[in-house]
Amino acid sequence: MSRVITFGTYDVLHIGHIKLLKRAKSLGSHLIVGVSSDELNQNKKGRGPIYPLKSRLEIISSLRFVDEVFVEDSLELKAEYIISNNADILVMGDDWQGRFDHLNEYCKVVYLPRTPSISTTEVIEIIKETK
Ligand code: CTP
Repeated sequence: MSRVITFGTYDVLHIGHIKLLKRAKSLGSHLIVGVSSDELNQNKKGRGPIYPLKSRLEIISSLRFVDEVFVEDSLELKAEYIISNNADILVMGDDWQGRFDHLNEYCKVVYLPRTPSISTTEVIEIIKETK
């Protein structure tokens, strides 16, 4: 009965998000997703999300392979989130490869390969170009 935790913005949901979350769930029995606050997304990506936090939380919590969601307010609080959620496994996309190895102190850290050729940023660019 492993508890898996992962993090992300999940703005303008796409197939890369779905594949990552499904694979994360398959590593355990309970999947907890930290969804970035609007402010965190602004700081992290230099732009606000298209969908506000409330919508992103509702969308992600509606997925059948997601068991719980919470708001990620800071990138610096991963250890606290792992401990407070009693997580056994932290899943990150391999764009973060190696960057969270220090958290192996608290739980197993697993990096999963990203789905090629899609990202929220790209989707937004394509929509802008085809206007
Ligand atoms: N992800 C993935 N494959 C993709 C895009 C994202 O596996 N093609 C994963 C990320 O590695 C992360 C999660 O989905 O674990 C949420 O990523 P997020 O940053 O919200 O999505 P991106 O599409 O990468 O967003 P952006 O383009 O704004 O950076």
